[in-house]
Amino acid sequence: MLFKKTEVQQVSNAMMNMLHEEEIDIVNDFHDAVVAKDTKKIDELFEVLLYDIEDHFSTEEDMMEESQFYAASIHKAEHDSMRKKVKDIEAGWKANQDPKVVQNFLEGDFKSWMVLHVARWDSETAMHLGDSM
Ligand SMILES: [Fe+2]
Ligand SMILES: [Fe+2]
Repeated sequence: MLFKKTEVQQVSNAMMNMLHEEEIDIVNDFHDAVVAKDTKKIDELFEVLLYDIEDHFSTEEDMMEESQFYAASIHKAEHDSMRKKVKDIEAGWKANQDPKVVQNFLEGDFKSWMVLHVARWDSETAMHLGDSM
């Protein structure tokens, strides 16, 4: 398990909390496969995770656009930097199939990014959105 549910803070928008819970479930399953060095399962769950991350980020970006959140472009830039990191890790996985590299990424960059990003950008965006969306 990479995340306990309580490690990622709740924000004041139900849709965003749902997106985060979903992502935590998926990334925890993915992390299990990575730790088990189960290549087939890693391949399979990598696709699921990439799809989920895109859904998470683009849903937030759509909500920010609709509600004209003043810091939408900074928040989106944070997503874009993680989009790029995940793509690079996926390319490395396809080339070398080294689960240790993926594990280090999840336990390091990804985990700390997620905790800080939600605490900083998602929580502020959620306060702007309220629970109306
Ligand atoms: Fe988020
Ligand atoms: Fe976000």
